[in-house]
Amino acid sequence: AGTVRALADGTEIPILGLGVWQVRDGRTCEDAVRWALEAGYRHVDTAQYYRNEGSVGRAVRDSGLPRDEVFVTTKFDPGRRDPAAELERSLDSMGLDFVDLYLVHWPGGGPTRAWNGMQRALERGLTRSIGVSNYSATDIETLLGVADSLPTVNQIQFSPFEYRRALKDTCERLGVAVQAYSPLGTGQHLRNPTVTTIADRLERTPAQILIRWSLQRGLIALPKSSHRDRIASNADVFDFDLSDDDMTSLDALDRTNWTNRSLEHPWW
Ligand code: A2P
Repeated sequence: AGTVRALADGTEIPILGLGVWQVRDGRTCEDAVRWALEAGYRHVDTAQYYRNEGSVGRAVRDSGLPRDEVFVTTKFDPGRRDPAAELERSLDSMGLDFVDLYLVHWPGGGPTRAWNGMQRALERGLTRSIGVSNYSATDIETLLGVADSLPTVNQIQFSPFEYRRALKDTCERLGVAVQAYSPLGTGQHLRNPTVTTIADRLERTPAQILIRWSLQRGLIALPKSSHRDRIASNADVFDFDLSDDDMTSLDALDRTNWTNRSLEHPWW
């Protein structure tokens, strides 16, 4: 689970991380992060908006792992004004001196609005890298037109069912790594027959199949769970490969082509 790759700014990021969206309860969140670190995860993804930064920080500190060995992401809530000031507050809640990655959570107020403040947070050493989340291809291109420091990642919902090829291609062409949140479709894709058939044949769980698909498509995957056994098994994905045929069957689950016009999320 500690397998890493380089971002465009030269920093290294583990390609699998624990997501903690909607893990509101402090004890539950702290347990989940602790179990993840015990299972070998070295990457945790939180946000101001999730209201669990304190629990994430406590679990990271209590793990006894050197700070440099755990990759911590948080996100700026664009409903607020000043990204650098907000990150100071986040760091205060977490009891950490810096995060590894700080994202604009969504393009609220326009895709460029927060970027100066994000760059200030970077210059001040409050974060090692900066990036965005829920940005469309147009949003990314608009931002690149004004940015001094480029966004290293775009974190978007991504799975075979939400397979945003054009957005992924644009990000990759521009050197922006794509992070997949809700790679299991918030759990809804785990019972799909195509997924379960492949899982049964390979003697793997449906979650492992979907996470493996994300990794083989070049994404940084951020599955979420608050159960200890699931957290561990979701990271046990580095000793098998999906064949080209299985990848192609999963690719065919894409719903974004035919639903594109009716989607409420503008970044689809
Ligand atoms: P739980 O937290 O109770 O384990 P996503 O990462 O796409 O947002 O999906 C998260 C959802 O999928 C959560 O509801 C989580 O439930 C569930 N989930 C995560 N891993 C597994 C797994 N290995 N088996 C079954 N459900 C899982």
